[in-house]
Amino acid sequence: MPNRDAVAALPTVVIIGAGLAGLTVALQLAATHAVVVLAKRRMDEGATAWAQGGIVGVLGSDDSIESHVRDTQEAGAGLVDEETARFIARHSAQAVEWLVERGVPFSSDPAGPLGLHLTREGGHAVRRIAHAADATGKAIHDVLLDEVKRHPNIVLRERWMAVDLITTRHLKADQRTEGKPRCYGVYALDIDRQKVETLPAAAVVLATGGVGKVYRYTSNPDTATGDGMAMAWRAGCRLGNMEFIQFHPTCLYHPQERSFLITEALRGEGAHLKLPNMTGEAARFMPAHDDRLELAPRDIVARAIDFEMKKHGLDHVWLDATHLGEAFLKEHFPTIYARCLALGIDIARQPIPVVPAAHYACGGVVTDLDGRTDLPCLYAVGETTYTGLHGANRLASNSLLECVVLGQTCAAHIATHAHPPAHALPAWDESQVENADEQVVISHNWDELRLLMWNYVGIVRTTKRLERALHRIKLLRSEIDDYYANFRVTRDLLELRNLVDCAELIVRSALSRHESRGLHYSRDYPETLPVSFPTILARKPKRKAPPWAA
Ligand code: FAD
Ligand code: SIN
Repeated sequence: MPNRDAVAALPTVVIIGAGLAGLTVALQLAATHAVVVLAKRRMDEGATAWAQGGIVGVLGSDDSIESHVRDTQEAGAGLVDEETARFIARHSAQAVEWLVERGVPFSSDPAGPLGLHLTREGGHAVRRIAHAADATGKAIHDVLLDEVKRHPNIVLRERWMAVDLITTRHLKADQRTEGKPRCYGVYALDIDRQKVETLPAAAVVLATGGVGKVYRYTSNPDTATGDGMAMAWRAGCRLGNMEFIQFHPTCLYHPQERSFLITEALRGEGAHLKLPNMTGEAARFMPAHDDRLELAPRDIVARAIDFEMKKHGLDHVWLDATHLGEAFLKEHFPTIYARCLALGIDIARQPIPVVPAAHYACGGVVTDLDGRTDLPCLYAVGETTYTGLHGANRLASNSLLECVVLGQTCAAHIATHAHPPAHALPAWDESQVENADEQVVISHNWDELRLLMWNYVGIVRTTKRLERALHRIKLLRSEIDDYYANFRVTRDLLELRNLVDCAELIVRSALSRHESRGLHYSRDYPETLPVSFPTILARKPKRKAPPWAA
């Protein structure tokens, strides 16, 4: 049995998010800290458990740190931070080993490095992706979650949603004794009790994942509403490269299955993209777009599909894996094989209908290699961050890697730097609000936002469309702010508020980039400038203090 008094005496760290980023930090910190992990839905809901292709490990005898850095830079189209890429590549073997030691059942190959089978994905010069068939994320998440659940110093709070960070502006004047501004904790909605609690913390970690749900069509789970990005922004932190939203080329196109990814590893193993109504090699269209064919970086493949769909008036293109054979497909892609078969598509005999969909946020909260944000005692790790690794376009399977490597450095920094708040924190004040009368307004606004982002801020952009989007986003924002100020918070309302904040940041970043690069393609600025920089947006925290701090 854990010694409760001993745990209570440890400084508390609140981690918002139970994906790979959050669980890595939790496990690394739990020996020395009391750790609270929040997840706004079930513990296993999040992008991590949905990851298919795998995690990069520079392990093979034909591979090198230099080669991985080069591929990351090439995919990132000139905006990758070399120091970050090198740091993460250097730690990739150790990251995969860390997972192996914990018992992650990666696909094996007795002749492979560490006994692992390595696969290949777009943009990688060699096979360097460790994977568990085509359900790598679930294999990793199951193992880490199990370990976290058994750890006496870690408390999991399922269906608790972080609302906002508690910063100096929330404190009464006589409580502002610590000198410098910092993060003191978080307000979190216990969804089942419908109550907002105050959680003080020596450090808060944002591990909230991405923002794919801001688009109508996405590979992302419902959790991906940009909460960490929006909270950090409201707390005064900088956000970087928000215009670079990665569209995965191949999501299943099927009326009953809107967010199912068809892993890039299928193309890595030889599947071909084809146009309908043609046969044989004539149907393949990637030869007309890039020498690397189906294994060109994702921005190029997604744009090629978008181009062909528009040119031929198609709802989708085909991904043809039939020549790989039933036995191979069943062994290497059992999840995709079974899911497609259940929907009436036998991938060993029929091509798969696919379309691009919003997949990954390359930008986010600006952090350093220790996960530090602009606000002391506030850290961020994983897809919610901008670390410079992904530049203008993420290389496949670099995301899970970033979660592990920087999750570990973040935990190490917290262990030596975090300190609990010196005083009690103000409780959440609901005295001025009532229950919302028309929840339907929220769902209408969700639909409108996601559709306008898809139509105006998608794979191919123009200044006029971006300006239209910004105008509409501002109208939506004023309605939502009004709602937020007057009604009791719900998960839907909070998510919508965060999505609108992120949508505005994506559009403002896109408008400020006067070139086409990586995932940002503008018809008005088709050229790539010879010199370019990340887009960093900054704002000062709101001057106006909340009523209880006046
Ligand atoms: P997530 O795993 O998304 O976890 C976010 C957590 O935050 C969840 O627990 C969620 O409930 C919680 N949360 C969010 N907001 C709040 C809030 N306000 N309060 C409380 N909790 C909150 N990358 C690879 O490298 N390789 C792959 O093969 C790969 N395949 C992918 C396949 C799919 C279908 C998708 C969608 C992504 C894939 N990616 C892949 C990307 C990768 O999975 C993600 O970038 C990565 O898992 C993100 O991990 P994370 O811990 O940052 O966030
Ligand atoms: C995939 O399996 O295609 C996704 C890999 C990734 O997003 O890194």
